[in-house]
Amino acid sequence: MSYPFPTLTAEEAAAMIQHDNNVGFSGFTPAGAAKAVPTAIAQKAKAEHDAGREFKIGVLSGASTGDSLDGELARADAVKFRTPYQSNKDMRASINAGKTRFFDMHLSQIQQNVRYGFFGDIDFAVVEAADVAADGKVLLTSSVGAAPTYLKVAKKVIIELNSYHPKQLLGFHDIYQPNDPPHRKPIPISNAEDRIGTQRVWVDPKKIVGVVETNRPDEVGGFTPTSEVTQKIGENVAEFLAGEMLAGRVPSTFLPIQSGVGNVANAVLGAMGANPDIPVFQLYTEVIQDSVIAGMNAGNIAFASGASLTVSPDVLKSVYADIEHYQGKLLLRPQEISNNPEVVRRLGIISINTALETDIFGNVNSTHVLGSKMMNGIGGSGDFTRNAYISIFTCPSTAKGGAISAITPLCSHMDHSEHSVQILITEQGVADLRGKSPAERAEAIISNCAHPDYKDLLHKYYHLAKSGHTRQSLDSAFAFHKAFLESSDMRKAHF
Ligand code: COA
Repeated sequence: MSYPFPTLTAEEAAAMIQHDNNVGFSGFTPAGAAKAVPTAIAQKAKAEHDAGREFKIGVLSGASTGDSLDGELARADAVKFRTPYQSNKDMRASINAGKTRFFDMHLSQIQQNVRYGFFGDIDFAVVEAADVAADGKVLLTSSVGAAPTYLKVAKKVIIELNSYHPKQLLGFHDIYQPNDPPHRKPIPISNAEDRIGTQRVWVDPKKIVGVVETNRPDEVGGFTPTSEVTQKIGENVAEFLAGEMLAGRVPSTFLPIQSGVGNVANAVLGAMGANPDIPVFQLYTEVIQDSVIAGMNAGNIAFASGASLTVSPDVLKSVYADIEHYQGKLLLRPQEISNNPEVVRRLGIISINTALETDIFGNVNSTHVLGSKMMNGIGGSGDFTRNAYISIFTCPSTAKGGAISAITPLCSHMDHSEHSVQILITEQGVADLRGKSPAERAEAIISNCAHPDYKDLLHKYYHLAKSGHTRQSLDSAFAFHKAFLESSDMRKAHF
């Protein structure tokens, strides 16, 4: 033990956390998420419930986390409030059942909103570290996320010292905490690889109430293998971007890429790397997924800045086994910097995110299945889309074996409006919406992106309304969704 703080078991740490406390956990995706303490808090919650006492806490994190955090706490019905993003099936069920209040927000904003006091006091920070020194310097692990803010504002701090993550991670983080208005200064990043902060986070050592020692890998699930559809989407994105270079709209040195989360995003980056017309590129992104490491190993990606290294267990092992090789190629930042609108706009980022559903005018739903069930959350897609040099949304043209059309007359929930969405890409093709009126957008989206099974229906819908800048028929705008609810098939929509 080389730190002067009490060593605790996870249970002893959990015993300190009381009903109604707000806890800021480290974790941006399962990467770097606290693991042992949240599981012990869930066990405490079950014991308290069995004894007839209330026990629920507020859970704040960087983004989604692992099953030991969101899964365990949701199954124990131990969460009164959750923000800013989640993707765990049991947490999702708890939110959709109304048991957990969920506040879905742009990920770049959580740190400042916590500092501004918008969510009340943070009683505890529970943060995973690869090292902690007597003077309070904390070496974070595979993500930064919002951990620096929780360490700064929490009244008490518990460190999960996880020896699975090597101390050679020193140099992989760039910790910068902006001042709050009216004292904020420009963020001095003008290249994706610029370093502006420190390698470790400083926390007042007097606040550290204990250290829980663990040795546990991140709980990142694997990605589904690339399918014919996701491969085609990826190729369409790559061809579109190569065309933008040829047209002189993207410089031959290329622009930094932001790539979203999930299976489609993972496949898109893979296809971009494989396209011979796309030069070696950099990422200024939020989540560094498997395909980034594959692209680096293949020499297609030179550098990646993000808030987390979210790679499957074997890939993380291979990175740690050759860690000096990745030093200077991977950089982890706080999410208010990785997703910062000012930086996104200055660097001229090309953003590529995934939609659940779009409509024929280019509005995008990233979060709500059939308008009501929360999937994961908006994540960083809004931070990037609204400020990108070129904003792209991708998705398969259908879901659930063709019974759902991803292109609908009107989105059942809206996260990104037609004013922010520039390019829509499915396996069917590309709709370039830049400079187009609603009528032109509808034509481009239906003709180029919709699945053939739905084209006639969408055209018919568009011509129902006889006039208007945006031709919308309020009687039939949700006919696709109604058909799915009635007969599990949007192809049965009628108007
Ligand atoms: N209606 C209902 N269900 C739909 C649907 C629709 N329109 N479109 C997709 N789905 C379902 C799929 O069938 C699949 O369900 P299954 O798991 O039961 O098979 C599920 O949604 C996920 O679809 P998939 O195609 O595998 O998508 P993905 O893994 O690429 O994730 C998002 C897509 C939208 C859920 C994901 O990208 C996300 O959460 N985005 C919001 C946050 C974000 O963009 N962050 C990036 C910022 S850096």
